[in-house]
Amino acid sequence: MSNANLPEPSLDRVDGRLKVTGTATYSAEYQFKNLAHAVLVTSKIAKGRITGLDSKLAEAAPGVLAVISHLNSPGVPGYPSVKQPAERAPIGTAFRVFYDDFVYFSGQPVAVVVAQTLEQARHAASLVQVNYQTEKHETDFEANLAKAAVAQSVQRNKTSPFQDYDRGNPDAIKTAEVKLESTYVFPTQHHQPLEPHAIIAVWEADDKLTIYDKNQGVKSAQGNLASTFKLPRENVQVNSPFIGGAFGSGIRVWPHTIAAVLAAKKVKRPVKLVLGRELMQTSVGSRPFTVQKLAIGASKDGLLTAITHEGIGQTSTYEEHLERTILATRAMYACPNVSTRYRLLNLDVNTPTWMRGPGDATGMFALESALDEMAHELKIDPLEFRIRNHADRDPERNLPWSAKSLKECYRIGADQFGWNKRTLEPRSMERNGLLVGYGMASSLYGFHRHPSKAKAIMLADGSVVVQSATMDIGPGTGTAMTQIAAKMLGVTPQKIRFDLGDSSLPDAPGQNGSATITSVGSAVHVACESLKKKLLALAAAMPGSPLANSRFEDITAKTGRIFPIANPSAGISYSEILKYHRLPQVEVTEESKPGPERDQYSMYSFGCHFVEVQVNPLTFEVRVTRVVTCADVGKIINYKTARSQSIGGIVGGIGMALMEESVMDHRFGRYVNTDFAGYHIPVHADIPQIEVYYVDQPDVYVNPIGSKGLGEIAIVGVAAAVANAVFHATGKRVRQLPITVDKLV
Ligand code: MOS
Repeated sequence: MSNANLPEPSLDRVDGRLKVTGTATYSAEYQFKNLAHAVLVTSKIAKGRITGLDSKLAEAAPGVLAVISHLNSPGVPGYPSVKQPAERAPIGTAFRVFYDDFVYFSGQPVAVVVAQTLEQARHAASLVQVNYQTEKHETDFEANLAKAAVAQSVQRNKTSPFQDYDRGNPDAIKTAEVKLESTYVFPTQHHQPLEPHAIIAVWEADDKLTIYDKNQGVKSAQGNLASTFKLPRENVQVNSPFIGGAFGSGIRVWPHTIAAVLAAKKVKRPVKLVLGRELMQTSVGSRPFTVQKLAIGASKDGLLTAITHEGIGQTSTYEEHLERTILATRAMYACPNVSTRYRLLNLDVNTPTWMRGPGDATGMFALESALDEMAHELKIDPLEFRIRNHADRDPERNLPWSAKSLKECYRIGADQFGWNKRTLEPRSMERNGLLVGYGMASSLYGFHRHPSKAKAIMLADGSVVVQSATMDIGPGTGTAMTQIAAKMLGVTPQKIRFDLGDSSLPDAPGQNGSATITSVGSAVHVACESLKKKLLALAAAMPGSPLANSRFEDITAKTGRIFPIANPSAGISYSEILKYHRLPQVEVTEESKPGPERDQYSMYSFGCHFVEVQVNPLTFEVRVTRVVTCADVGKIINYKTARSQSIGGIVGGIGMALMEESVMDHRFGRYVNTDFAGYHIPVHADIPQIEVYYVDQPDVYVNPIGSKGLGEIAIVGVAAAVANAVFHATGKRVRQLPITVDKLV
């Protein structure tokens, strides 16, 4: 579909004007009288101990209010009271801010300087003298692969999905008619949202904290801070109404947040702390460096017979970050014999975290590359190979899918792309002296739904307020929720306001795992349904009411008027109902939870991507020239915002395929490309025409609205589709991302 020709519903973003006019207030932009500014001092070494920290010069610098380190921290009540432990923190310990003298990674906060102005704080931070006793660090993932092991948390949890998995015969791979083995290397990547992480921390009283913070979950941040600072939950207020992108970097509460809260406590003033781009690379997680070994076996006529998939992911020395790297391989294709192994490698780095399509984006790069390699080996069209191995039910759980229109996605995508023009042989298509390649990949993402609450309020003038402590990190949550409420209540979207990003609102999960519409949207749906029922009862009680004996099934509502379906002219408006009953407002709060269906059906979003590349045969410059994507994510709530989500995921996938890589200098254990000059992401000139299609059929088992997650599946598989297209163009298979020129010459 083109932008100008979007199917309904395609409501414009309800907060679009606020955002494009600079009126939306982001965390760092709140104004406070008496606001102080904090700047972190971070470790220059990757492992060792702080032997001395001299802040005299800094404290004497103009405007400085405090320099806080492990030597004088006001203390975090939630940390163990031992002041200087003898040993480094064991695995499973979240990083403790200004707690002891151990250094776990380069870029670790070792002090924070608070001053009247940002400039004064920055200058004073440069004056803090830190001395270290350096220990030998290990940051080189590939050099330490042999040390990878089963995660301790997995060893303890026998039902962990990351346990070793064998389906069918684990030795089947050895006897496969055709067998391929490959290793795929995925570099560390960083989320790089446009808005850097930022917080303003305000202690309203000794036991009352308010923060304005960039994060993906106000309720989880509230809970975390309440337990960290041993405060009653209701004494922590988190405000995060606008988020300028996050991609997973805002799911956790990170050390800089704790540092800012400590700083505000110490100086008894509101304190603002903004991470610069450089610190974003060591402060808010990363997509972990991952190495995958994949062996794939097939019969000569193109049926998969065996897959073994081993994934090794990077983590820190103090925490275990696990992600779905090998899990998609168990569910994606109808293969009788599948074995997966998942290992972690602890290095002297900060803990990785989830980044858009966590695990699946990494794992599906390997699986979908391997499928392409096998199709090439068998001389079968890669799309035909996937269709032949389509899983008609979930082979992992041996359950029917709740809904799966992947074959329809393949058909729509292939038709719109013109896949039938693809020649089988690599390096066989050309245009204007450039090599042309067509590549495709499948995509899947698991279904997550969490208990969520929403409050729906009908006001006297017939306008509606809906509230939930959910988030919008960019996809347009408020817009979709407004549409769901408008549809249920029969009120025009312009009369609805949706409040989010405020921890005092009804309980809802943070925005992650592509679960917002399905979780919170369901809550909004049931809250508005319940409100409509309450209003119907009030209307029925009015003298001579045309709705007196109407059942809920027999009525409907439109433009703020509720009426019998059989007699549309005999209605009553919401404002009349409230006026008659002399009510300033009518409100309900409802919770929506997943039902037993998820034990009866296997729930996933599915999709596929088709990519065309042009490669210069002399310079090996790769250009993505066309992308067609099609997804089955159930019912589409808003075509316009959905399309933007899909495009965003594909842009991320193109970056992943061709550009993104955080490079570390292992002599120092430090990232070297810590700005956008060194860490490359696609710019407009790198992005071609992207066509987005949806099957748009409700999945009746997932929730009352029939809609599944879209945010993550948008990126899953894209890098493989690009790599497969590059192979088709050049005959060169690159298994180590990003696919830069040096890997093609
Ligand atoms: Mo997403 S990685 O769950 O923000």
